[in-house]
Amino acid sequence: MRIVDTNEQTEDVFEKSIRPESLSEYVGQKEIKENLEVFIKAAKMRGEVLDHTLLYGPPGLGKTTLAHIIANEMGTNIKTTSGPAMEKPGDLAAVLSTLEPGDVLFIDEIHRLPSYIEEILYPAMEDFELDIVIGTEGKSKSIRIDLPPFTLVGATTRAGDLSAPLRDRFGIVNKLEYYTDEELASIIKRTSGVFDMHINADAALELAQRSRKTPRIANRLFKRVRDFALVLGDGEIDLDITKDALTRLKVDPYGLDNIDIEYLRSLISKFNGGPVGVETIATSIGEEVTTIEDVVEPFLLQEGFIKRTRSGRVATTKSYDHLKIDYNHSLF
Ligand SMILES: Nc1ncnc2c1ncn2[C@@H]1O[C@H](COP(=O)(O)OP(=O)(O)O)[C@@H](O)[C@H]1O
Ligand SMILES: [Mg+2]
Repeated sequence: MRIVDTNEQTEDVFEKSIRPESLSEYVGQKEIKENLEVFIKAAKMRGEVLDHTLLYGPPGLGKTTLAHIIANEMGTNIKTTSGPAMEKPGDLAAVLSTLEPGDVLFIDEIHRLPSYIEEILYPAMEDFELDIVIGTEGKSKSIRIDLPPFTLVGATTRAGDLSAPLRDRFGIVNKLEYYTDEELASIIKRTSGVFDMHINADAALELAQRSRKTPRIANRLFKRVRDFALVLGDGEIDLDITKDALTRLKVDPYGLDNIDIEYLRSLISKFNGGPVGVETIATSIGEEVTTIEDVVEPFLLQEGFIKRTRSGRVATTKSYDHLKIDYNHSLF
């Protein structure tokens, strides 16, 4: 398992304990926070529920955290489910019927909701009504149940996969952005406080720089470095122990790990820097295409190590420099 994988891993259960609980503790995402603050305040002043809210962006940037914060700030409860967990129409009906007035219903990975379940969601979102069909074919009838007003908070890593009718039913739509190194350092500081283990400012910044602009990775790296500091150091997390730990964890100064490096090396040495199709690269390094597309490439693209062209992936000069391969030389 990759330590720099942005997806949630089973050992990330510790995340719950380090989640900020209010907007003011939530680092970064300035615009989203400022707007939400206004919308939440206005909803409270009117005595209404907050509009349905869609949060989208890459894994690990704080969507689930924000959903919990919204419920907290509204002073209501949150009920959680996910797109893939809904198989039968009854699954959604069961969740909806447990809602109390004002509750937040959080649906994670909402793009994976089957379309026949999505359709049940429309009247629920629009009019707080649930249509259920009872009886068997031929003798079935539809009954309508009133639901209490609630706020649907949907999260997705793939906003493009959401159907237009569903997307249009969200009054508030927020795209989460990658974090700056300073923001990540401040998240790491906060986490170190929760774990009661001091980290020096320069060490926090070093960790931040290798965290792929993602809080989930920053927290995970912090947790591992903390182990090294405890066992090999004197319990304090300073720059030396941090660099040493990250070298041992094979996370390089850009936050690239073994798979990223293998990917770039293969692209450059085996395929002359591209263009080459993603399937071909995946096969050459023995990884799944979906892993490459969802986990490896987004960061390499975002940081300008590769480019996506119509005829395939291409390595940029930044990749050649990083791997210390001469760009001009390799052309001949
Ligand atoms: N803005 C933030 N401030 C502080 N911690 C954050 C922030 N965003 C995310 N985190 C931390 O990063 C981890 C992953 O966040 P999470 O909400 O689970 O991400 P997502 O749902 O987008 O995959 C959590 O431990 C959370 O506490
Ligand atoms: Mg999440």
